[in-house]
Amino acid sequence: MSLPALDRALAEGVTLVMLTLTNNAAGGQPVSMANMIAVSARCRAAGVPFFLDAARFAQNAWFIHSREPGYSDVPLPELARRMFDLADGCTISAKKDGSAHIGGVLASRRATSSASLCSWRTPPPRLR
Ligand SMILES: Cc1ncc(COP(=O)(O)O)c(C=O)c1O
Repeated sequence: MSLPALDRALAEGVTLVMLTLTNNAAGGQPVSMANMIAVSARCRAAGVPFFLDAARFAQNAWFIHSREPGYSDVPLPELARRMFDLADGCTISAKKDGSAHIGGVLASRRATSSASLCSWRTPPPRLR
């Protein structure tokens, strides 16, 4: 994710940030751990929930393991744990890396229903 663009969105009052693993808008390019750490830190500082579109989390973890300096000795399950630890929640289309034929997941650390998730942060007036 572009960090300058994220900074602008946070300054404008965006209410939730979602990072897609891998980055479909960029042709399926992987997201680095360094970028995830930076996005997570900015969202936490701004008090904005940070979610992962984690449909391809295993593929992304493999890219980090095989390409990003400093992670080749980290086992893939540990890499996945570190990725999810950075986020407040995630969505998963389970038929991708999740090894299911159909279905999906919405997971959140702070909310127990999609209704309460929607009221997590009050949208700025121009988005109401
Ligand atoms: C990262 C990611 N998220 C979400 C989706 C959408 O999944 P679905 O087709 O189950 O809606 C895709 C589809 O390829 C994807 O790659």
